[in-house]
Amino acid sequence: MTSMTRRHFHRAMLGAAMATALPTALRAENAPVLHARTGQARIAPPEYPETRIWGYDGTVPGPQLRARQGARLTRAFLNDLPQPSSVHWHGIRIENAMDGVAGMTQDATPPGGRFLYDFALPDAGTYWYHPHNRTFEQMARGLYGALIVEEKAGAPEVDLDDVLLLDDWRLTDDAQIADGFGALHDRAHGGRIGNWITVNGDGAWSRRVAKHERMRLRLVNTANARIFTLETRGLAGWVVALDGMPLDRPQPLDRLTLAPSQRADLIVDVMAEEGEEAFVVSVERSGGYAVAAFEVAGVARPARLAAPGALPPNPVPPLGDLETARRADLRMEGGAMGGLGSAMLDGRMMDMREMAAAGKVWAFNGMADMGDVPLIEARLGETVRIAMTNDTAWPHGMHLHGHHFRRVDADGTVGPLRDTILMQRNETVEIAFVADNPGDWLLHCHMLEHAASGMMTWLRVV
Ligand code: C2O
Ligand code: CU
Repeated sequence: MTSMTRRHFHRAMLGAAMATALPTALRAENAPVLHARTGQARIAPPEYPETRIWGYDGTVPGPQLRARQGARLTRAFLNDLPQPSSVHWHGIRIENAMDGVAGMTQDATPPGGRFLYDFALPDAGTYWYHPHNRTFEQMARGLYGALIVEEKAGAPEVDLDDVLLLDDWRLTDDAQIADGFGALHDRAHGGRIGNWITVNGDGAWSRRVAKHERMRLRLVNTANARIFTLETRGLAGWVVALDGMPLDRPQPLDRLTLAPSQRADLIVDVMAEEGEEAFVVSVERSGGYAVAAFEVAGVARPARLAAPGALPPNPVPPLGDLETARRADLRMEGGAMGGLGSAMLDGRMMDMREMAAAGKVWAFNGMADMGDVPLIEARLGETVRIAMTNDTAWPHGMHLHGHHFRRVDADGTVGPLRDTILMQRNETVEIAFVADNPGDWLLHCHMLEHAASGMMTWLRVV
């Protein structure tokens, strides 16, 4: 992982700005390649063998893509995996044809095939990319990377800007990725929970810092199913953005929960003393352990910097009138201990045993997988409200493509912009957004085994 300095970054961006002026055909020929292929990675400690992975450019994580807000990102995706694949640019309010959903916005790119992604980046923030075909297997094998969109101006000054991609691997005793992808037990329970946690593919990620240094930490949960509960030790600061989108004002950092695919941007100051270590800690039922360590050497300045201001807002339209908004309800059912008797699958009513035989164990509004009819069809620019009820015994992280939404509480207060929301069992959450992006968009659980076994629907914006 590189951590570019701001000056270095601006120089690098001059090249990107010129590239945006080239006509499309020329861009396609000159597009940098994003190459999905097999590789080896040192995920486990040195006494273990290296792990065979699938990775973008053969590495875990894939290359960190950086561009500037308002620029275009162009990548020729080259598939050298043994399976068809595609690339989804998670959280980007992207044009529909570039959304990377195999079987919906494009055909999966076959082994040996190529697909040109070329799209605008309307929002600054912390985003990421991953496959959207057999995602539960392909992400578990290591296919993901960060996509960082730099603010045009007005970003708070920091000494260091680090991306921390958190993952949860299920490894065998010889440190290989366990197969059994999409096992029925994982589908019906909390998904594929692993036994080895890494940051940026490293089980003991650490870096050197100085006391009172100010860091922007961009945390991304790239795990298939694990929900991370995080705290810091020896670092103090603020949450400044969630799922890429700036908060109206920085929130003091306390405990932070990240469902699969969620992001948080932190601005933190190193408070630990010279010779000590500061940590990002994953809080577990049985205590907690450090997932990232910061060794303090030297003192950057005698005192902390002043509190940062908010990041500049992204150009997301404000919600329209919530009273007259177009509405839909989404009832989430199924899973172990869920008591789901039957549901529609492939146009036919099936009981739970028949569904399970087809690998489906969840339903939205009585239907497993997507039907031909969208959950809701909205006119361009309309405000949409969806009331989602988690009538299952499990938490779920619901993700909407192509838009960011806000949670609307019963008293009318609205939450920050997000693209994924964690729902606890028996919870009802209402979300609202402006349907300003034409096309067909997925709404699904980002616990990948759940998505693969029924928790998937779609919306149409016309
Ligand atoms: Cu991050 Cu539909 O996915
Ligand atoms: Cu789920």
